Amino acid sequence: MQTPGLIGGLLGIEEITNKPTKEPGFFDGRHLRLADARSGIWLLVELLSPKNVWMPSFVCKVMIEAVEKAGVPVCHFDLNYDMKLNSLDWIDQVQPNDLVIIVDYMGYPSETDCVNQLREKKAWILDDASQAWPSNVQANIADFTLYSPRKLLGLPDGAVLCFQSNGTLMSDVNLKPPPTDWIMKSLAVVQRRRDFDRWNGTDPWQELFKEVNDTFPLGPYQMSEFSHAMMTHGINFENIAHRRNENYLVLNELLQDIALFPNSGPKMVPLGFPIRVSDRQNLQDHLLNHNISTGVNWNLEGYISDVHEESHRLSKDIMTLPCDQRYSKDDMVYIAETINNHIKQ
Ligand SMILES: Cc1ncc(COP(=O)(O)O)c(C=O)c1O
Repeated sequence: MQTPGLIGGLLGIEEITNKPTKEPGFFDGRHLRLADARSGIWLLVELLSPKNVWMPSFVCKVMIEAVEKAGVPVCHFDLNYDMKLNSLDWIDQVQPNDLVIIVDYMGYPSETDCVNQLREKKAWILDDASQAWPSNVQANIADFTLYSPRKLLGLPDGAVLCFQSNGTLMSDVNLKPPPTDWIMKSLAVVQRRRDFDRWNGTDPWQELFKEVNDTFPLGPYQMSEFSHAMMTHGINFENIAHRRNENYLVLNELLQDIALFPNSGPKMVPLGFPIRVSDRQNLQDHLLNHNISTGVNWNLEGYISDVHEESHRLSKDIMTLPCDQRYSKDDMVYIAETINNHIKQ
């Protein structure tokens, strides 16, 4: 049976269990709890003072803004239409103490071909696992790992910056709480979405979500006590991982031909299921007419140079399907069939 209402879009807040939970590793090792991932990038750049920060040619705008706020230039290395490194030639230009950010897209472990050469260059490596579950990442190859659990758990805020090396950097950091007005609005958004999902609640969340999204804190802001308490006492992580994992398997089987990362492994805990299609807008409209909301991560227009042609081509064709904990295997079959019927037309 298909879930009534809308499939996909913003996550609502999880059912509160109020039982101590074994979280899957977001808080392992030396770490700082932050309001959001962009603040983690900003903070790390402030702490390391690199000459340059390197990141892929396929990133969201806020990652660049975080580095620029710290006053450091951003260089991009080229990713192709498959979201893979085109070459390692760019490493020639990396200098000692530069920070290189690799990304675990949608929770799919990042490529690590560049790591040995970066080590020889004495560059720092940040694994941006903002979209990943801890079991999916290669924290052992990076100096720092950045998580953004709110993206997978429907929390109002919350990111974690882990220090696998250079932990002394943490000692001088002074963080302040996120702005109260912002955190309350962010909490209202995830609560409204949950009411909508569960009881057909009619409070609109979309406009408030836009306001919250446009005003994310960027600076020395810590994770709210509320989100931290939820992660240690409120959330059934096992169930979330299991549902995402099972849903991923269904989509991967039914949408092999258009999956961006087919066969990524049976124990995958994805943020979403990225596909590539021509005439994306048409398909998105069709899906929305069938109550399926999809996302585009990301539209690179205006902030990534046209030199990165293949990244731009990918940006025009990519879209993300929902496969989160709210939905069942039947919902995934419904999504896949709706897509396949449209493509065959
Ligand atoms: C890979 C990656 N890093 C960092 C960020 C910034 O995350 P936040 O919104 O928590 O600041 C995002 C946001 O989408 C992201 O996708």
